Amino acid sequence: MQVHVFENAQQVGKAAAVLFASQVMRKPDSILGLATGSSPIGCYQELIAMHQAGVLDFSQCVSYNLDEYCALPQDHACSYHTFMREELFDHINMKAHFVPDGNAADLAAECKRYDAAIQAAGGIDMQLLGIGRNGHIGFNEPADSFTYGTQIVELTESTIQANRRFFDSEKDVPRRAISLGIGGIMSAKEIVLVAMGEDKAEAILKTVTGPVTPQVPASILRTHPHVTILVDKAAAKLL
Ligand code: F6R
Repeated sequence: MQVHVFENAQQVGKAAAVLFASQVMRKPDSILGLATGSSPIGCYQELIAMHQAGVLDFSQCVSYNLDEYCALPQDHACSYHTFMREELFDHINMKAHFVPDGNAADLAAECKRYDAAIQAAGGIDMQLLGIGRNGHIGFNEPADSFTYGTQIVELTESTIQANRRFFDSEKDVPRRAISLGIGGIMSAKEIVLVAMGEDKAEAILKTVTGPVTPQVPASILRTHPHVTILVDKAAAKLL
């Protein structure tokens, strides 16, 4: 695991974009694993700028997102489908992009279908991750064991509170989500985790130096052969 500490959040976004841009240049038909939330936005802005400047072409790339809320219409302002369209897909030329369907009539079947689709595509070449204050990755919350495949998860109180900022009121925050499992994340050939701000410092400390435990889901990344963690000074404060 490599850890790079930057002066500020903007540099974290730029550094993540450098890694994704070089992945796409080295392998134009890359399968990219993407994330939502505040953390990846800087990276997406840099990738959009490179694309618009004519130096980065996504026309052979396919992307799979980590997660989506359940029971939230895809065109809802807070859905991850909407987030990805607005923050990335509307501005670049990705060949195809997929986000799990949190409204599928048969959610168990959707979980299986999503894993099978990623596998059939050849697996994720580079996975982008944020991290929750409780150490979650995707929506894999602290638990007694690590998850494996894509599954339906109950969000913890800490995650509901953290995501409340995007919704009109706390009661509007969905309680369930569909998320790639830890096994799916760990199957990515390369993983890039970005974290900014002091409220991520404890999760970063536990991820980088604490025991590998499902109580801190991101700690499993220490067992992956190719992980890069990009953090600003505030998120690295406890290291
Ligand atoms: C989003 C996701 C989550 C977020 C995490 C951090 O697709 O999978 O694990 O990465 O909750 O969210 P932000 O970046 O908003 O602090």
